[in-house]
Amino acid sequence: MDSKKRIILTGDRPTGRLHIGHYVGSLRRRVELQNEGNFDKMYVFIADAQALTDNIDNPEKVRQNVIEVALDYLACGLDPEKVTIFIQSQIPELCELSFYFMDLVSVSRLQRNPTVKTEVQMRGFAGESVPVGFFTYPISQAADITLFKATTVPVGQDQEPMLEQCREIVRRFNNIYGETLVEPNIMLPDNSACLRLPGTDGKAKMSKSLGNCIYLSDTAKELKQKVNSMYTDPEHIHIEQPGHLDGNTVFIYLDAFCSDEDFRKFLPDYQNLDELKAHYTRGGLGDGTCKKFLYNVLNDRLTPIRERRLELQKDIPAIYDMLCQGCERARQAAVETMDEVRKAMKINYFDDKELIVEQAKRYASSK
Ligand code: TRP
Repeated sequence: MDSKKRIILTGDRPTGRLHIGHYVGSLRRRVELQNEGNFDKMYVFIADAQALTDNIDNPEKVRQNVIEVALDYLACGLDPEKVTIFIQSQIPELCELSFYFMDLVSVSRLQRNPTVKTEVQMRGFAGESVPVGFFTYPISQAADITLFKATTVPVGQDQEPMLEQCREIVRRFNNIYGETLVEPNIMLPDNSACLRLPGTDGKAKMSKSLGNCIYLSDTAKELKQKVNSMYTDPEHIHIEQPGHLDGNTVFIYLDAFCSDEDFRKFLPDYQNLDELKAHYTRGGLGDGTCKKFLYNVLNDRLTPIRERRLELQKDIPAIYDMLCQGCERARQAAVETMDEVRKAMKINYFDDKELIVEQAKRYASSK
């Protein structure tokens, strides 16, 4: 696509500090995209309003984590000069656009949204108690994307149904009101190991409540403890036994993080991950060696992030200033799109001179 037309947008719910699942799944790619510079605009935002849709028992948690997520962004290398970083709740136009989008989506279509479906089950909202805001968050997410005319949305595979729903809304809107909004495309992570990094306990997903995350802000000591207690192959009890790679978290993480260069640096007995895997499955390679290697690889990646974060934490007011400027920039774009939307919907009554003249005439002729 013409880079002048490319608008990249993505966001995160501020419900906790960001972890390495976020890093391999999205943050790393965002920083690459930012540095490639192949876009007209790039937005990354903190979805605090969306986080409230399923954290109403703890709004303070959401509020406190806005700064944590902002620190993690900057620590990973997002540059506010190149990327507009903003906070969702500060853009009132999002509510306005969502309000009109609500007319374009049926209740049953939302009920069929697989993400909503599984999340409703996962979060244990008992049938009737699903908050309306949560149920309709695919609609507000469509507003997040379209208000900025995003063409390209880098997110995990779990967000695919959201993007599909968003495209449907755009088509419906444009059908009714004329070509106004842009259909976005999802941009999935390219390395398959990155699609969904399991937790350190081998469970499906890293999640704060399961206590199975490695955070970007973890100290080297915390990292070491977490790697050492990671789930591997429960049948691999003695070193001589053949080990299994399937569901083996240490190898899944290595798939996501390590390069041949890491072997030269930290484990020169092997050329690459294939050799290490072959030895492990043949038998004779202990989990301890693999974990030590993984620790070194992760620590190598996380050390610069951790150090930058410690530096940034020294000036919190500066982070809020940066966010405030990002919100102002985002709002300019939001206001422009909303003007176009109102015009397309013909609800820009006071600017619509033709409408006023036409109706005045109609009444004049009926006299
Ligand atoms: N739903 C996304 C998540 O949970 C966060 C999000 C909200 C988002 N609005 C968005 C992502 C718009 C991309 C585009 O991670």
